[in-house]
Formats: sequence, C-alpha cells, structure tokens
Amino acid sequence: MVKFELKVNGQEYQLEIPADVSLLEVLREYLGFTGTKEGCGQGECGACTVLVDGQAVNACLYPALKAAGAEVLTIEGLAGPGGKLHPLQEAFISAGAVQCGYCTPGMIMSAKALLDRNPTPTREEIKLGLAGNLCRCTGYNKIITAVEKAAAAINKEK
Ligand code: FES
Ligand code: FES
Repeated sequence: MVKFELKVNGQEYQLEIPADVSLLEVLREYLGFTGTKEGCGQGECGACTVLVDGQAVNACLYPALKAAGAEVLTIEGLAGPGGKLHPLQEAFISAGAVQCGYCTPGMIMSAKALLDRNPTPTREEIKLGLAGNLCRCTGYNKIITAVEKAAAAINKEK
C-alpha cells in the first residue's frame, strides 16, 4: 500500500492504495466519483475520460499514482457555483445529445479539453477532438452540434 494525496475537483484527498491501482478505480471505488464511467477498461471507449492538469486522459489506463500533485477534474467538478450547469452540460441536454448517457460524462470531459485549447472548433475539429470517445446511441451528430452550441455560449459569456 502507498500513501499519497490526490486533488480532485479542487479538493485534496489523502489515500492509501495499492501501487498499481488505476485513477478510474480510485475515483469510483475509493472516492465515490461514479460520474466517471467504466466501459471497456482498456483505453478504447473514452467513457472514463477525466482531465489531469487540463489534458483528457483515459482514467482506466492512467496509474493513480501518476496523478499525485496534479489537478484532476471529473464531470462532478464541472458545474459552477450553486450547481449551475456548465454550458457543455446545458448544450448536451438542449441538443438532445444524451440517450442512454453512458458515454456522456467522458464526451463532455473530452469536449471541455477541446474547447479549452480551441474555443472555436469546426465540426471536423470537434469530430477529431472526440475521436477517442465512442457512443453507441446517438450517431454523433447531436453530440457535435452540442459542442458547437456550447462553444458559442462560452464565447458569448467572455
Ligand atoms: S473504460 Fe477507459 S477507455 Fe473505455
Ligand atoms: S448516449 Fe448511449 S452511448 Fe452515447
């Protein structure tokens, strides 16, 4: 067992974990952040996407210890004060980009990383930015539209 500190959604946690445990397991099983989903567990589906220092990573493959000292952001940390939904969350709802919802937290976190580095992406750039996130329900068009709507809303707020 290894003792370490992890910062998730702005809060520090002291943990004692086996050295080989994944960030996904720590988030879900040790800290209760079950908004981050496990799909394939093999780096293929993107359902487990979280941000580590602003970079989208597959938490199922990411060693938890590697995140020590970094800022981890999960879907639970995206809403603003008073639970006000993030523009991406609003847009996914209003564009009808959520069906079963299993891919949604990972999609939104990948989209957040994309919009943070490119606030005005084209549809093609959105497709590329979300290429690591699989959705079996929506056919992707509504998801891409949702990211466009969120980008417009965020840019309007600036
Ligand atoms: S659960 Fe991590 S990529 Fe599928
Ligand atoms: S909404 Fe069902 S997998 Fe994407």
